[in-house]
Amino acid sequence: METPSRALTIAVYNNKGGVGKTTTTLNLAATLALLKKRVLIVDFDPNQSDLGDALNLRPLKGKVLDILKNKESNIGDIITPYKFEHPKLTEPLGFDIILADEDLIGDVDEAKLKQQVKLHALRRALESVQSKYDYVLIDAPPNWRVFAQKAIYAADVVLIPARHDNLHSLQNAGMAITRFIPEMQAERQRFGDAGPTALPIFMNNAFRVSDAQLQLMHQAVAKIIKEGKANANKFDLTPYFYPKFRKGHKDLRMITIPYMAYISRADFMHMPAAFAFKPAREQYLNLVKEYFL
Ligand SMILES: Nc1ncnc2c1ncn2[C@@H]1O[C@H](COP(=O)(O)OP(=O)(O)O)[C@@H](O)[C@H]1O
Ligand SMILES: [Mg+2]
Repeated sequence: METPSRALTIAVYNNKGGVGKTTTTLNLAATLALLKKRVLIVDFDPNQSDLGDALNLRPLKGKVLDILKNKESNIGDIITPYKFEHPKLTEPLGFDIILADEDLIGDVDEAKLKQQVKLHALRRALESVQSKYDYVLIDAPPNWRVFAQKAIYAADVVLIPARHDNLHSLQNAGMAITRFIPEMQAERQRFGDAGPTALPIFMNNAFRVSDAQLQLMHQAVAKIIKEGKANANKFDLTPYFYPKFRKGHKDLRMITIPYMAYISRADFMHMPAAFAFKPAREQYLNLVKEYFL
């Protein structure tokens, strides 16, 4: 049977802000583009609009809302190409982006929005462009509210950044896997559709983590895992925090992107660190290999 190839849709999510959702979305897109993959990124965190801002692109006005509300409108009409040019490159590198919607910034009426825009709106809207890309990455907002829910609903897999030194980001990562993602799985199942699936959590932005801090982190994670097992659906979070852990081999290695000045510096230059700086590129290449190749 012929099945047209379709993009793998990845939502980058943590209920906590400042853990690297936007940075990860951008640099994974850049790294995948370097590997000649066709990539679309979606700025689905209008209150920040950081993804567009990171590339010096302004939000759109009313367009995304219109697409989410309106079955007939075509998401292809609001895709902006981003090109990175460099004297050493024979042809520009790039990917496509759906910018945030200016009309969704600030005090939007959540109850009204919930009525106007269905949970499956983003998933349905992306359907028409799925065959044009290898990867679609959605930068989801923090907080388990309408936008985050639509982003997770739309995803095949959910990538969750957390921080070694931030307890809430670790707890929220666990909560996304034990509660939020299963909620969206149940919704999708009502339409005979499987997914989304959580990928192992990765630690981002670890700045000179001391042994004492690491020990505290492992203790906190042990508690989160214990609570997960005590949960109604008896979830074992071990493989999500420790993907190398095997019975009999207590391997506590985690997937990590270290703190790198290059990564934050690239923000000021309005370009992805993975395009501009080789050491950053190598880190994100490792992440891509770990998850997607
Ligand atoms: N690995 C890293 N090394 C250095 N700075 C980082 C790293 N990851 C993220 N940052 C910086 O941390 C800040 C927050 O990251 P961001 O991606 O905006 O988080 P979120 O989207 O989750 O709110 C940004 O200033 C970003 O440049
Ligand atoms: Mg962000």
